[in-house]
Amino acid sequence: MATAEPNGSLIEVRDLAIEFSARGQLARAVDGVSLDWRRGEILGVVGESGCGKSTLARAMLALVEPAAGSVSLRGQVVSGEGAGGRKGVSDLRRRVQMIFQDPYQTLNPRQRVEAIVTEPLRVQGVPEGKHDERVRRALDDVGLDPERYLGRYPHQLSGGQRQRVAIAAALVLEPEGLICDEPVSMLDASVRAQILSVLLELQKRRVLALVFITHDLSLAWSLCDRIAVMYLGRIVEQGSAVDVIERPKHPYTKALVNAVPVPEAGGGGRRELLGGELPDPTAIPPGCRFHPRCPRRFEPCDSVDPSLMPAGGRDQLAACLLHDPAQSSAAKAAADA
Ligand SMILES: Nc1ncnc2c1ncn2[C@@H]1O[C@H](COP(=O)(O)OP(=O)(O)OP(=O)(O)O)[C@@H](O)[C@H]1O
Ligand SMILES: [Mg+2]
Repeated sequence: MATAEPNGSLIEVRDLAIEFSARGQLARAVDGVSLDWRRGEILGVVGESGCGKSTLARAMLALVEPAAGSVSLRGQVVSGEGAGGRKGVSDLRRRVQMIFQDPYQTLNPRQRVEAIVTEPLRVQGVPEGKHDERVRRALDDVGLDPERYLGRYPHQLSGGQRQRVAIAAALVLEPEGLICDEPVSMLDASVRAQILSVLLELQKRRVLALVFITHDLSLAWSLCDRIAVMYLGRIVEQGSAVDVIERPKHPYTKALVNAVPVPEAGGGGRRELLGGELPDPTAIPPGCRFHPRCPRRFEPCDSVDPSLMPAGGRDQLAACLLHDPAQSSAAKAAADA
């Protein structure tokens, strides 16, 4: 039995690094990430395409082996340094589920909805006598009438219905956490709203913790309790959704916020848009990895790699030397000029 740790985290990520080899070179897709996903909370993960959001999500489910660091479930290390073996991973896969952007890829086209939603129960060895009731409840929970949909194949469903089936298959094991990787980005606006309301309703009713990965800052702002902003494999800012989107403290977050219409959002000051492209993770710039694109870089930024430090709101952290008390105010003022 896992012990409940005091801060109520479902998953803790510590100093996590995930590496891939690409064309003979080593790429750090996740590079020193520490993050707490608390029970019952909606945690947003945002950042440009390729910054490492999906890799982080997969690592949180122990689907990729860390090069360094660890992932813990309710205080017990399940992946990486100090992991306790298969039992922890199987506990993790039961308590935390994942849904993806494209439900068509995750649903077996040759299985009917009934078999798709029953499959996780079989894999986890839930007694057969409970299958029918659990499958029907999961379909009810996502707003699909079991009588109408149990016998259908994925190609007989709309995109929104397919995503509901994927959510039902994730829910059937009654998880404590659901990691949603761009769950609505392929759906049209009206279906998107339906799926989001299904997820929010479930989050409240089942006290489900959600990780919500999205490019859509305005969606993250309206949906999430907290937000982590990723840049090139690192978290560069985190805090409450309101602080991060309305009062961003990292120049990267400011640029992201400035690029989208979020009614109350405050990129702050000048409307600086982000130039250049996300560098390749095989060639991470020295110093602050954002400095080549940063409109506010100053002298030490190309040599000093900042870690997350307090910046502004309660629990708001930014990895930026502008918030480092050790940097002289004259240098910061020059960066502001
Ligand atoms: N299996 C893999 N092998 C090699 N490189 C990979 C692999 N998976 C991801 N990468 C690289 O890791 C980096 C992060 O990829 P990831 O898919 O996590 O980004 P993302 O933030 O989810 O992007 P998107 O918003 O486009 O989904 C990218 O540079 C990507 O090319
Ligand atoms: Mg992704």
